[in-house]
Parts: sequence; C-alpha cells; structure tokens
Amino acid sequence: MEKFHDKVIYQAYPKSFKDTTGNGMGDLNGVREKLPYLADLGVDMIWLNPFYQSPQNDNGYDVADYCSVDPMFGTMEDFDDLLAEAKKRGMDLMLDMVLNHTSTAHEWFQKALAGEKKYQDYYILREPKEDGSYPTNWVSKFGGPAWAPFADTGKYYLHLFDETQADLNWRNPEVREEMVKVVKFWLEKGVKGFRFDVINLIGKDEELIDATDGVGKYLYTDRPIAHEFIRELNEKTYGQYDDIITVGEMSSTTVENGIKYSNPEQNELSMIFSFHHLKVDYKDGEKWTIMPFDFQELKKILDEWQAGMSDGNGWNALFWNNHDQPRSNSRFGDPKNYPFETATMLAQTIHLLRGTPYIYQGEEIGMTNPNYENISDYVDIETKNAYRELKENGWDEKEILEVIREKSRDNSRTPMQWAESEHAGFTTGEPWLKVPENYRTINVKSGKLSNEIRDYYKQLIQLRKEYAVISRGTYRAIQLDHASIYAYLREDERHEVLVVNNFYGKIALFEVPEEWLQGASHLIGNHPERNLEKSLELQPYETIAFVKKK
Ligand code: GLC
Repeated sequence: MEKFHDKVIYQAYPKSFKDTTGNGMGDLNGVREKLPYLADLGVDMIWLNPFYQSPQNDNGYDVADYCSVDPMFGTMEDFDDLLAEAKKRGMDLMLDMVLNHTSTAHEWFQKALAGEKKYQDYYILREPKEDGSYPTNWVSKFGGPAWAPFADTGKYYLHLFDETQADLNWRNPEVREEMVKVVKFWLEKGVKGFRFDVINLIGKDEELIDATDGVGKYLYTDRPIAHEFIRELNEKTYGQYDDIITVGEMSSTTVENGIKYSNPEQNELSMIFSFHHLKVDYKDGEKWTIMPFDFQELKKILDEWQAGMSDGNGWNALFWNNHDQPRSNSRFGDPKNYPFETATMLAQTIHLLRGTPYIYQGEEIGMTNPNYENISDYVDIETKNAYRELKENGWDEKEILEVIREKSRDNSRTPMQWAESEHAGFTTGEPWLKVPENYRTINVKSGKLSNEIRDYYKQLIQLRKEYAVISRGTYRAIQLDHASIYAYLREDERHEVLVVNNFYGKIALFEVPEEWLQGASHLIGNHPERNLEKSLELQPYETIAFVKKK
C-alpha cells in the first residue's frame, strides 16, 4: 500500500480562509489559527492554493516569484511557523506549483522583454504567420486568442490562460533546472506535498501548428514529452524522498494517460485530478450553459475512472469541489430542501471510493453557491471574460447572470463561514468577495446543520483509517444503469463493503444482491441505522453503506 492511500487532504484557499489583519483577505496566519479546527476534522494534509508573489490577475496562479510569500498573505516566517505548527498537530502541507506558466510580471519575462536572449528562450515566442495573423489559431482557456504581442518585437508569446500568464518553454533544459530549484526549495523546508497545476500541458511540440478544431487543446495536452518532463522532475526532486505526496491537475486527460501519470512504476506522480465527471452539466460540452446534470453520464465516468485506473494500477484524487468549481451541493443535489442529506450523500459517494479524497474548505459545513445579484459582485477573471464574450454574442444581462450564478469559479471562492457574526467571522474588514447570505445558519461556530455535516465527514475520514478495504480494496459498480442510484462494492482479503447512494430527492428502490442479505452490518449512513432487506427503500438523497467480514 502506498503511503497516501489512507490519507485525506483538505484544500484551504488562503485568500478566503481566515483574515487576521483586517484587510479583507485571508492570510497564512489565518490558516495557522485554524489548525486546531483542521486537526479535529482529522485530515492529514493541507493543500494551500498559491500564496507566492503575484499581481493576482488569476488569484495567484500568475506567479511572479515561486520562492516567496506575497505580503498580502504574510511573510516567509509566517509560512515556516505554519508548517511547523501543522507538523506538531500531525498534518503536512501540500503546495501548489504553477509550473506551466509565469506571470508576465516575473523577472524572467521582464528580462526577456528587455531583450535578454537567455530569458526569451524561457517562453514560447513565435513569429506571426506570413499574412500577419497569430502564429496559430489556438484559443486561450480564458477566451480569446492564445497569443499576445511580445512588446514591439513583432513576435507573439503563447498564453494558454490569461494574457498575463505566459507559458514556459519546458523544452529548454534551463527552464527545467529552474523548476527543479523551485521544488527543491520547498522540499528542503519540509513541505510534504505538491499539487502541480495544469501539469499535463507543459509539453508543447517544437513546431506549433494550426488546430483543425480551431481550439488546439489536442495539440498541447498529454503530449508524450510531458510524461518525460514529469519523470525528470520526479527523479531530481521529490522522487528522492519516500514520503512526498504529489497530485497532478490534468486538464482534459484520458484514463490511459492517467495511469501513466500515476502508476508508481512510472515514477511520475502519486495521483491525478481529472475533471470529466464535473462536466456532466455542460450542454454540448460548453461550460457557460445551464443543464441539469446527466446522472447516467456521471456514473459512467466515475465508473470508467474507478475501474480503469484500478486495472492499470493508477490512483485517483477524489473530489467534487475545488476553487474552480461551483459548489457540488448546489449542482448535484438540493441544498434547500435536503441540505444534510445532499452534502453527506455526495461526501460518502467519493470518500468510500478507491482513491484519495480531497475536501474543499466549507464543503464540510455545507457551504453553497452565493447567488450574487450583480456582475460587479464577481472578481474572477474567467467569469469577467465570459461576461464580456456572452455580451458580445448578444446575450442579455439577465441570461448572462443566470449562467454565471451557476458556473462562476467565484461560487467556491467565497469566504469561509466561521461564525454567525458579521462577515461570517472571516474578517473584521471588508471581505474581498462577498459572503453568501446564508452564513447566519451555515457556519462552523453555531450552525447546527453545519456541525452535523462536519461530524459526518469526521466519521468518513476515520473509516478510511480503520478499514483497509476502503483505502485499498478493489472497486466494482453494481446495477450501474439504475435510474437514481449509484451503488458499488469494495473488497479486500478481510472485508466487503456495499455503498448505495440515492442521487435524487425522491424514494428509490434498490434490489439488494442475494449474498448481502445475510451477515452484513450497517457501516455508515445519513438516515437511521437499519438492516438490509431484499428491496431496500432509499429516502431522498440517502446514502448507506454495509460491511461484511470474509
Ligand atoms: C488551474 C487552476 C486555476 C487556474 C489555472 C491557470 O486550472 O486551478 O485556478 O486559473 O490552472 O493556472
């Protein structure tokens, strides 16, 4: 068993976690202040989104100096204290490494602009086509062309994300050496985990060509050379330790590649995040649309990744939420009528799967999308670009706001709801992003519902530690085509576990397999405990699991 198989990781978004200075933005000391809370929850590692020096055009994913702390988050001393305090409480830190691109404010890009050839080779610069148009027809993931003029040189630089996020040229060995230095810097401080941002995009071809689909993803995603670069980074940095956990964020990847990235024999990464299951409410694959989620598709994808990664000895990161996704309870459940059931059913569905679960701040207390009224309430750059584009495409304000309310990344970035007091106890100043109105009832300190949900998470975390079948057992779906239930079995040499989840707000019947009718006992569920019977009636959003000794 790998070291990370029984771990649970908590994602803290530092800007929204806890403000200790009153400037309205969270900081590292805020995370430190809340360590007892995280230790009590029972998590092993805390993933921190980028806190490095950055102009914050993409909330820190535009890094200007990889080995620094942005003053808005505190100092390097604060970081060291946080790390030490976390360790004392039995938790480690996972840092976010944004190595595909730097901010255009990074010294390297500035030197490149000033004409230094060495640094120009750090980026992906190309001449325009003969007709003067962009070097290729690729589209940025945040909208618009993926190329921007490189000052007045006549050349263009590639930016797969915002214009202020210039893609690095990983084919240049000097760039790879810089990246090794960055990872080593944090390893030597005692950091035990790394989350590598969009790491499957680092391998661009030497010759860049027009995309036949006019977008280009397939030309720069999961290139074989990306695997080579990751292996090299592994070998020169974290691979030299035996207790480092790594997770790669994989944009539009495949199971086949997922296995390559995470099979221990490949010496690349411990596990990967894939996102296909979070696109089941995208109409025709488009994010800025509204559609009820496609449950059959969701199950198909979860099953494909569970079974496929298991067959190839790969490892999944399990998650519904992160700082880029709307809140899952608003998306896949009914937080208005069944807030407890929705939150716990979704949690149980993934916590009992094969992989390493991630909890995104606030999920454990039932936080929801904020439902802002005005576009001016939103801060996220992707949201703002989408707003502009949809306007240009002739959508009216109301329609745009409706879709943004469902899909914006700001949905999950709202301040953590600590208490029923002003600004949810997040800050004494003005929060950088508005606190959702439900903070008086949904909060850590006095929210009854929040406490119940959190207790459930604690139990799920403990079960993973107690039962090897959960952390390392095999996975098999049953009755996969059921209209409203996702059920699966886990098995190891000692136990079998049956997990049944009702994804809808109405009663559902589940035909219990014959062999489960005897000898099984209740393991965990979000409704009163009961025994298995031939036809099991599940209440709205009920989740229930049984265990059998072998
Ligand atoms: C990842 C991050 C996202 C960021 C993007 C560019 O997808 O999670 O927040 O905008 O990479 O770095």
